[in-house]
Amino acid sequence: MAENKIYDILVIGGGPAGYVAAERAGHKGKSVCLFEKRALGGVCLNEGCIPSKSLLNSAKIYENAKDGEEFGVFTDDIKLDHKKVMERKEKVIKKLVAGVGFQMKGAHVNVVYGTAMIEGKNGNTFQVSCNGENYEGKNLIIATGSSPSLPPIPGLKESIENGFALTNREVLSLPEVPARLAVVGGGVIGLEMAAYYSVAGSKVTVLEMLDHIAGPTESELSAALLNKLKKDGVEFMLGARVTAIGDQKVSSDKGDVPADKVLVSIGRRANTSGFGLEKLGVYLERGNIVTDERGRTNIPGVYAAGDVNGKMMLAHVAYREAEVCVNDICGESDFMRYDAVPSVIYTHPEIATVGHSLEGAKNAGYDASEHKLPMAYAGRYVAENKDDGFCKVVIDNKTRRILGIHIYGNYASEIIHSGAALIENRLRVEDVKQIIFPHPTVSEIIREVIFSIK
Ligand code: NAI
Repeated sequence: MAENKIYDILVIGGGPAGYVAAERAGHKGKSVCLFEKRALGGVCLNEGCIPSKSLLNSAKIYENAKDGEEFGVFTDDIKLDHKKVMERKEKVIKKLVAGVGFQMKGAHVNVVYGTAMIEGKNGNTFQVSCNGENYEGKNLIIATGSSPSLPPIPGLKESIENGFALTNREVLSLPEVPARLAVVGGGVIGLEMAAYYSVAGSKVTVLEMLDHIAGPTESELSAALLNKLKKDGVEFMLGARVTAIGDQKVSSDKGDVPADKVLVSIGRRANTSGFGLEKLGVYLERGNIVTDERGRTNIPGVYAAGDVNGKMMLAHVAYREAEVCVNDICGESDFMRYDAVPSVIYTHPEIATVGHSLEGAKNAGYDASEHKLPMAYAGRYVAENKDDGFCKVVIDNKTRRILGIHIYGNYASEIIHSGAALIENRLRVEDVKQIIFPHPTVSEIIREVIFSIK
């Protein structure tokens, strides 16, 4: 039976952008219908951020247990049971997906499971069909996310089909630890999975096209992580152009890497086809939906948030973009800013960074300087960690404003938001000196670096 109700907002996609948009809008009193073809939570919750953190935490516990003697903790027969690790990961996903379902209920969002198709615009409303029913809405938020980029490397398509090559989805659900894992792409997914499977027992080799790992990450952080992963037994082939995948190996211009499985993690592409987007004439550039600072597309009433706009493919950016779209629909002034977006690599130790690197700041025209201290300046870090790390702060010499913070060391992920707050609020070195940080915490490293600046 066709629905007659006209929703304020139709949201296509129930990942971080879609479910946050739906929830925020629902709590603001808007009537919302959310379409999801797989599971609420999208890639992040089901086959990305959350399951990978579950796996990596098990690896961290295992590594800490092995280092226990230094901390006065002796245990016999320490082992990592991959099957149990996977079982726990499934429980975590189940719990959180159910949680998102409750959040949708709490916000009175109508969740429709199925593939939504945009049918067009009729007068002032957008038409969407799903499972044979029609839905109408005054506004449309596209939050369809992204998929792994799979270029035409010879043998890749067949290798995906026969299970030799994996994407983020399959690598997070492998029933067995492969004896040899090749990883194509030394970006965030590649490094996090290399770290887990190496600890779990695979012989891991990462093939990366560039001469460094971790893409745009600040260069000293990326070099430190490369050294640590090498020390842990991960092999790297940098500057390698992959020429073929198949026959139990990855071939490259730097040589062949024999493997039992190969993870292909060379970036992601926006999902813009297969759901009728073209019927509305939404403007795309290089495969991404073009949006302005309020999340608006070229079609009035049509918004896009999250990976589908190709700006910064991070769940926390998607959350904020979703909020900006909803606020604009509700007539509240809000806009996106991308200069204080934290990013994290959840290896052991972690990397977390926000804002400009020294090089980036100089390229942006600042008279910038960087200031660095070892993590050992934070008492709690020394008490709890075996290896050292470091923290760098980049400032604008003219205004003394904080431009960037880059941390290599555990808890980096949990303290980097304070760096985002300093940058977002345009605080100066002297302002930060007046902020009280709890003691003893790892976060004090930021304060220490600030006080070292003359
Ligand atoms: P990525 O863009 O982070 O890294 C891809 C890497 O592959 C780059 O270093 C690139 O130079 C390399 N590459 C590209 N083509 C290649 C080729 N033919 N041969 C060898 N190397 C090649 O992409 P990734 O790791 O697939 O992650 C996808 C998205 O997911 C990213 O936008 C990332 O931000 C997000 N993500 C974020 C996480 C986090 O915040 N902790 C965790 C996992 C994913």
